[in-house]
Amino acid sequence: MNHLSITTTQKETVQGLGKPARRIDGIAKVTGRARYAADHIPPNMVHGVYAIAPIGLGTIAGIDSDAVRKIPGVLKVFTHENAPKLEPPKTFSAGGNAQQSQMILQDAEVRYHGQPVALVIAATLEAAMQGAREIKVRYEKQRAGALQLDADKANCEEHGEPVDVGDVAAGLESAAHRIDATYFSPTQHHNPMEPFTTTAAWDGPRLTVYQPSQFLVGMRNGLADVLKTDVRNIHVISPFVGGAFGSKACMTPQMVMTCAVARELGRPLKVVATREQCFTVSSFRSPARMEISLGCDSDGMLTALRAQVDEITSRFDDVSMEIAASMPRMYAWPNIEARSRLCKADCQTPGFMRAPAETPGMFGLECAMDELAEKAGIDPVEFRIRNDAKRDPALDIPFSSRLLVECLKRGAEKFGWAERPEKARSREVDGAWVGYGVASAVYPTIVSPCSVDLEYDFEGNVKVATAAHDLGTGQWTVVGQVASECLGVPLQKVAVSIGDSDLPPGALAGGSATTASLCRSIHEAAERMARQLADWSARMDEPPFGDADDGFQIRGAKLVSKSGNEAPIKDILDAAGETAIGVRGSTPAPGKGGKNLRAFARGAPALGAYQIDGHAVASWGAQFVEVRVDKHTRTIRVPRMLGVFAAGTIANPLTARSQMLGGMLWGLGSGLLEQTRVDETRGIWVNKDLAEYLVACHADSIEIDSEFLDENDQVANPLGAKGIGELGIVGVSAAIANAVSNATGIRVRELPLRLENLLEDA
Ligand code: MOS
Repeated sequence: MNHLSITTTQKETVQGLGKPARRIDGIAKVTGRARYAADHIPPNMVHGVYAIAPIGLGTIAGIDSDAVRKIPGVLKVFTHENAPKLEPPKTFSAGGNAQQSQMILQDAEVRYHGQPVALVIAATLEAAMQGAREIKVRYEKQRAGALQLDADKANCEEHGEPVDVGDVAAGLESAAHRIDATYFSPTQHHNPMEPFTTTAAWDGPRLTVYQPSQFLVGMRNGLADVLKTDVRNIHVISPFVGGAFGSKACMTPQMVMTCAVARELGRPLKVVATREQCFTVSSFRSPARMEISLGCDSDGMLTALRAQVDEITSRFDDVSMEIAASMPRMYAWPNIEARSRLCKADCQTPGFMRAPAETPGMFGLECAMDELAEKAGIDPVEFRIRNDAKRDPALDIPFSSRLLVECLKRGAEKFGWAERPEKARSREVDGAWVGYGVASAVYPTIVSPCSVDLEYDFEGNVKVATAAHDLGTGQWTVVGQVASECLGVPLQKVAVSIGDSDLPPGALAGGSATTASLCRSIHEAAERMARQLADWSARMDEPPFGDADDGFQIRGAKLVSKSGNEAPIKDILDAAGETAIGVRGSTPAPGKGGKNLRAFARGAPALGAYQIDGHAVASWGAQFVEVRVDKHTRTIRVPRMLGVFAAGTIANPLTARSQMLGGMLWGLGSGLLEQTRVDETRGIWVNKDLAEYLVACHADSIEIDSEFLDENDQVANPLGAKGIGELGIVGVSAAIANAVSNATGIRVRELPLRLENLLEDA
């Protein structure tokens, strides 16, 4: 199999981790040679466009597609009456790989707004689009379903295991200061630049799928199961992804149906979702209602945390982001109660969206912390430092590393926190009140099972291959850097292959897990390779190593032992009669074994999260924000943001910085702009395009800065990396809300923060 393989063209030598390597795929991208999923046009391909239900709930009474079939170029129309029958797959949360269990075009029921009701196949994209637009679908029993969190409270049920430590009631009652407040974070949709798209090409029993993916292994296995074919027949290709944020982690119903229809047509089929359809093809971020109670004593020491979080899920799947469970790890509260409820709604199944638990969770919790600090009369930075935890208070295990206090201190110094206005409305610039806000950030270290193939040849060239993913974040480069670090060779010597399901089952690109997972498996492969070479070296005329040698490592062109003996690798290969050595390194989730690797290879997520070798492992950070709130119009501007983070070894400071700035900018959009609005009379989402679903843009970003503290977490993995992808967004919206409160004296507990929340005395 011929996989895409990329080697850096950077002139200056880059070796190992922690170096600012430029993206090895950068030139392919800026010259347009990088082919994204929808760029592929297999011979004889046809186009498909789904028609989606514009209603909330209802039943299809009839579909008139006669006129559509007469459109020149239209070949066929699939509806629930003639579409392939598909069995419900297992969702990701249930240990499978599907976005939802409910398949599409299976019956006449419309179960959620935006559900596909027909698929028009045509020789041209234009004909398929026209067909999908003009198809006449009659609905009956049309009604508005519930899309809001509070629309259907009778359907809310306790979900998951509550966290229960100590005596929360006593902790709250004995508190000198106390906050009881409800915070609300809205429905949000991922809007990656690259839309959802599937191109399916069958060749006899073999299926090739071009599809942006965060989980190739899962999609490959998921398709094999639903299409009832041998997994060896399925090949999913995804070398480049134009943003995903959780939305491309799972096999969607549209993806499955597109593959099934292509099989029936006997021709390759391509479907690209419209921007409107991107709001219903995959998952979304559930709204969250967070009822939070905090107490502290007269010295400002926390006495209790109580959190009750409600989320919505679909009628057919129970999926929770476990927001409440993300809160206890933050501070040293002796008494904790954290519970979740799931409320049924009439939507597709919601799911992961960047830092799924922490983005909403730290909005609620870090606002509550700010409110309590104010009540207790303690500076909010000092309040957090005072309540730092040495052990995870819910699990009662030590943290592997936790530089939250250092992040807060460094951030306060660099940001100029000492200049924070003491009182609301006490400082003005250009007719706007100035406010500073702070919030902590956390993201647990998640580890995926992972296998890599590593090859080293007689010229010292290295190949590293694994079915990992680059979502636009720089993973191509970092995979090469990890191999460079483990073998002591320059990045220029490393050829990287990722993004193809035929490669060894690679780390899932979710939960910021890829780098930390690859550090384990590439390190394992390099050690195995060194041991194998040491064995082979015994065949040399003058064996370089004795019985006392151990701790073998490949360092560039040489194999070295701990005691300092060494041998050129090409001589070892000569003696062994080989021109290259290849090994596979496989590492299961922490504490797991071969069964875990097998489950993963068969498509189950099987991840490890947060607990490694009796330690709680997470990345930490502190967000600092300055706001300006216009005295008269109450518009909110954010002229300045600073994030200080500690996430273990930073593999590539260039791409890592971009990740954090992007995350923080998204946090700004999430705090001030983003919300999918519901038309409750019809039970539909209304702002399903980028004109009305607002995201932050260049003009919103004035001065953003990010800094990483030095850290190397040996519990996380031998290279010390924890994970950064999702950390950057966490806490930003709370820092903004806290800054707005500092500027205006008005506390807003609902996102997005809008000027209309600040008009009470205008
Ligand atoms: Mo992330 S929401 O796990 O892509």
